[in-house]
Amino acid sequence: MSQVYVTRRYRFCAAHRLHTDQLSPEENWAVFGKCNNPNGHGHNYVVLVTVKSGGREEACDLSRLDELVNERIIERFDHRDLNSDPALAGLTTTGENIVKLIWDILEPQLPMRRLHKVGVIETRDNYFEYGGVA
Ligand code: NI
Repeated sequence: MSQVYVTRRYRFCAAHRLHTDQLSPEENWAVFGKCNNPNGHGHNYVVLVTVKSGGREEACDLSRLDELVNERIIERFDHRDLNSDPALAGLTTTGENIVKLIWDILEPQLPMRRLHKVGVIETRDNYFEYGGVA
């Protein structure tokens, strides 16, 4: 059985600040550098969602996926402060935590383990990828 995967690309713009209450202000600065700036900063995030191709009915399936991602991810994060998102409370808003949160939101909504992988491009040089617990 050969399996084809299809990836859709989405975008949102959001602010964040890398910071943890478990470290002192000096330690936060040492670990996160300018990303710890108290006023935060923004990124144009790109989200890559890879699903197992359903074959022939793929075209309408993808419009369902678009609706799902727009409703659950883009509307939730676009033009927001990620540090204020309840699911990220107490976590540092790193690409690692963001990509895992997006997976955790989408995975239960896609039947039969259809979600294969989520990728988040944060900057020109930073890409994060998560495929769930093996
Ligand atoms: Ni950043």
